[in-house]
Amino acid sequence: YLTNKGKHRHFMEKEIYEQPEAIGHVLAHYVGLIENNADPIPSFDFASIPSLAISACGTAYLAGLIGKYWFERYARLPVEIDVASEFRYREIPLSPQSAALFISQSGETADTLASLRYCKKLGLKIGAIVNAAESSIAREADAVFPILAGPEIGVASTKAFTCQLAVLAVLAISAARHRGTVTENEVQALVRSLAEMPRIMGQVLNSIQPKVELLARELSKYHDVLYLGRGTSFPLAMEGALKLKEISYIHAEGYAAGELKHGPIALIDKNMPVIVIAPFDRIFNKTVSNMEEVAARGGRVILVTDEKGATASKLDTMHTIVLPAVDEIIAPMIFSLPIQLLAYHTAVFMGTDVDQPRNLAKSVTVE
Ligand code: G6P
Repeated sequence: YLTNKGKHRHFMEKEIYEQPEAIGHVLAHYVGLIENNADPIPSFDFASIPSLAISACGTAYLAGLIGKYWFERYARLPVEIDVASEFRYREIPLSPQSAALFISQSGETADTLASLRYCKKLGLKIGAIVNAAESSIAREADAVFPILAGPEIGVASTKAFTCQLAVLAVLAISAARHRGTVTENEVQALVRSLAEMPRIMGQVLNSIQPKVELLARELSKYHDVLYLGRGTSFPLAMEGALKLKEISYIHAEGYAAGELKHGPIALIDKNMPVIVIAPFDRIFNKTVSNMEEVAARGGRVILVTDEKGATASKLDTMHTIVLPAVDEIIAPMIFSLPIQLLAYHTAVFMGTDVDQPRNLAKSVTVE
C-alpha cells in the first residue's frame, strides 16, 4: 500500500478504493486455510463452546454485530455482543467454556482492552481481530486474527471495516463447519461467494461514483438523515449513519426498518431523506413495505439495492443506487461501498476536514 495519498484527495478516499486489494489479501490468507480444511483457529474449539461473546467500539462494534448474524445463522452459535464501554461494566455471567472475540483496528482501544481482560479473568478463550498485529489487544489474546488491511490513516474507518467483516465471515463459516451445521457443499458455496468479492468490489467502485456524487450534492443540503435496514443491513444502516455524522456533521440515525413505526416514523417529512439499504434477500419485501410507509408520509426515499431489488420494487424513489446482485454472505461488504462513498462525497461538498474530523481520534486509548 502507498503511504501517501497518491492520486486521491484524502486518505479516506484512497482507503475506500484500496478495498478490492485489501479484501484480496485477507481472503488469500484465510480462505486458503478453509479450502485446505486446516483449522484457522488453533486455540479455539468452535465445536464445543456453548456461546460466543463479542465486544468492540465504534465501527468495529458494528462489524461485530454483522458477525453475530452470521455466527447465529450459519454456526447456530448464540452470540452475546455489546459496545465495550457497556460490556466491561455489565457483569455479564459468561461461561468459562465460552470464547470471546474482540475487534479493533488499532488494537489499543481502552474499553475493548478492558472487556478482553474481564473475559480473560472469567477463563474464556480470547480471540483478537485486529489490524495492528503488534498491539495490546493482540498481545493479550490467545489467538490473533489479523485483518491485513494495511495502514488506515483516515479517522473514519473504511477498509478496516470490510476486512473485519471478511475475517468474521471466514470464522463463522469455519465455526459452522466444525459444529456440523452446514454441509460441505454449503461451505464450498460460501467460500466461492467470498472469493468473488475483490472483482465485484472493483466493478462497483468503477461504476457508482458519478451517481453517488450527484446524490451527495443533494444530501449536503439536509440537516437530518435516517438510514434503515433489516438483518445484516441493520448494522450497516447504523454504520452509514455513523460515517455520515462523523465526517459531514449532518445528524444521522440508523434504525432497524421494522422499528420505524415505533418512533422515527413521527419524524418523516420532506426534510429528512431516508436511505433504505435493501439487498434482494429473504426479507426484502418487508423492507419494501417500510419504504412504502415512508413514501406515504411524504418522505424522500433513497434506495440502495441490487439489480433484482430494483426490478422488484415499484416505488418512485428520490434516487436509487443499483449494485450487482450478489450472494447474501457478501452483501454487507459490497453494500458498504456506496455507504462509505456517500458519506465521503457529502463531507467533501460540505468542505469538512474529511481525514481529521473535529473532536474525533483515530484511536481512543483513554476511557
Ligand atoms: C474511534 C475511531 C473509529 C473506530 C473506533 C474503534 O472512534 O474513530 O473509526 O471504529 O475508535 O477503534 P478500534 O481501533 O478499536 O477499531
